[in-house]
Amino acid sequence: MNSKLSTNNQSPTTKLYSYGKQLIEQDDIDAVVETLKGDWLTQGPSVQKFESALAEKFGSKNACAVANGTAGLHLIALGLNWEKDDIIITSPITFLASANCAVYAGATPDFVDIDEATYTLDPNKLEAKLKEYSAKNKNIKAVVAVDYAGHPCDWKALKNLQDKYGFQLVNDFCHAPGATYDNDIQYAPKFADAVNMSFHPVKHLTTGEGGAILSNNSEFDKRVRTLRTHGMTKDESVLEKNDGPWYYEMHEVGFNYRITDFQCALGITQLAKLDSFLEKRRLVAKYYDEVLGSDNRVITPKVVANVKHAYHLYPLQINFDEIGASKKDYFARLKSNRILGQVHYVPVHLQPFYRKHFGFKPGDFPIAEKFYEREISIPMYASLDKSDLEYISGVIIKSLNQLT
Ligand SMILES: Cc1ncc(COP(=O)(O)O)c(C=O)c1O
Repeated sequence: MNSKLSTNNQSPTTKLYSYGKQLIEQDDIDAVVETLKGDWLTQGPSVQKFESALAEKFGSKNACAVANGTAGLHLIALGLNWEKDDIIITSPITFLASANCAVYAGATPDFVDIDEATYTLDPNKLEAKLKEYSAKNKNIKAVVAVDYAGHPCDWKALKNLQDKYGFQLVNDFCHAPGATYDNDIQYAPKFADAVNMSFHPVKHLTTGEGGAILSNNSEFDKRVRTLRTHGMTKDESVLEKNDGPWYYEMHEVGFNYRITDFQCALGITQLAKLDSFLEKRRLVAKYYDEVLGSDNRVITPKVVANVKHAYHLYPLQINFDEIGASKKDYFARLKSNRILGQVHYVPVHLQPFYRKHFGFKPGDFPIAEKFYEREISIPMYASLDKSDLEYISGVIIKSLNQLT
């Protein structure tokens, strides 16, 4: 089984297994050191090189590298002109930032429940929501669809809804670089008006902290670039006057959301290895699918026919009610065996902030809530080898046996 999985000499009896982890190798270290020895620590050539490499890999006309994925979502919100009274829809099963970006822009966040099979935003439920709002003479400004865990959303259905109802489509693509949709690794900017990426260490490729905005709209790209650096511009076509080569103007307030050159140097070497990282992640998933999928107490993630999963996460579901066990006890058992799982995610609408300010309550998005009760993300990263997987799967099953 999975003979391509590597073996290493470190014993699994001493390791800690988090749900995600970076893989930094000598070429990554060399690239960062070389940049540190050079002239540019920030705002130098590595940023543009990384941006070009991202645009080429993911098929977008433009890529704007930023300080982190949350900053990227903030700039997308501003670049797409979200404002007060605009309604922004996302999935309840996502990281807080996918919804918080609506709040940053002063807009109103709302949610649409997930599809039970793919755990991504359900287009049928989205259409019901669109109809609900249009009956009240309100329009949804944008949909932030999340390719959760690395499984692409039903982008054709979302695009059809966009054509029918007219809203902006954002792909929160933080989990899915390398996924394919209809055999196309470059699907994200084809369907979405703006695509957001994160390079946090648990993601497929890392720059420590980092993110990027991909788009095919050059005006939008120009705007987010200006907002990335305080709203400053030297673009002669918009300057009110020009005092000399030093002169700059600020026409709207922006931020310092820049990324450094040494981070981008790391991003370049990491991106070059994305395909091999993905191959390893898919072998890990295949192992779990075979070994854990044969136990009828656990539900392994499904992959729809026109999709290749990128496996940022491996979300396992266990129906704790049905087997008469507690998720907390199970979690503690995994931890005592050095498996540090995580739950992705606490449904965003149930966060106290969202309940207090926007009136959401338990029961609003039942599929997401049921998923939350059952889900545990088990270790998924490129450096897991065969003995690690044997150990992890063994603990997952043994801990279930001990509780049932
Ligand atoms: C779906 C999603 N969106 C946005 C973000 C925010 O990215 P960052 O942590 O780089 O700010 C994350 C990161 O965890 C994420 O998983």
